[in-house]
Amino acid sequence: MKIVLATHNRGKMEEISDILADLPVEILTLDSFPEIGEIPETGDTLKKNAFIKAETVHNLTGLPSLADDTGLEVDALFGAPGVYSARYAGETATYQDNCRKMLNEMKNFSRNERVAHFKTVIAYVTSSEKIWTEGVVKGTILDHQDGDKGFGYDPIFYYPPLEKTFAAMEKDEKNSISHRGKALRNFCDILEKQLINKNG
Ligand code: IMP
Repeated sequence: MKIVLATHNRGKMEEISDILADLPVEILTLDSFPEIGEIPETGDTLKKNAFIKAETVHNLTGLPSLADDTGLEVDALFGAPGVYSARYAGETATYQDNCRKMLNEMKNFSRNERVAHFKTVIAYVTSSEKIWTEGVVKGTILDHQDGDKGFGYDPIFYYPPLEKTFAAMEKDEKNSISHRGKALRNFCDILEKQLINKNG
C-alpha cells in the first residue's frame, strides 16, 4: 500500500519510514507530485492544519495521505506559540529568530515557571476514513541555548528525565521520546491493527 506524506521534508519521510518499517507500506513524499504546491496552513489548531494538509493531498492524489502538524506550547505564555510556532518571530522567521524571541519572552520567569510541551498531531485520510493521533512531550524552556543537533526550538527545549536539551540528543534518542515519535507510533499501532484485520 502506498501512503503519501504531505511534506517535501526528507527528514520527516525517513523518520516515518523507520517507524513504519515493519508494515507493508511504501511512503511517498510530495516530491513525487511536483504539481502540488505549498499547502496554506490556515487552521487555528494543530488538528485542523494536519487535516487540511492530509485532505488536500488525498483529494489531489487519490491515495491514502498522512500529514503532521507540530507546535510548542509554553504554559507561562498561555500555550503560545502553539500552532504559530514556525512563524513566532514573524512570517520569514528562522529557527534562530524564534529561539531568540522565546528566550527573551521567558527572561523574567523562574525555573519552575518554564514548563512547556511539544505536541504533534498526525492526520490520515483515505477514501473511507479519517484518523488522527497525538503525541506530547513535557520539558522546560532553558534560559540559554545548548546543543547543536536537531532543529527548531531544540536548543532551548530541556528534557529533565535525560538532563539535556533535544539539541544535545542523537536523532534516535530524540525520536524515541519525542512528540512526533509518539504520535507516529500511535498511528502505526492503528494502521497495523487495520492491516491485520483486513488481511486476516
Ligand atoms: P511543523 O508542523 O513540523 O512544520 O512544525 C512547526 C514548527 O514547530 C517548526 O517550524 C519548528 O519551529 C517547530 N518544531 C516542530 N517540531 C520540532 C522539533 O521536533 N523540535 C523543535 N522544534 C520543532
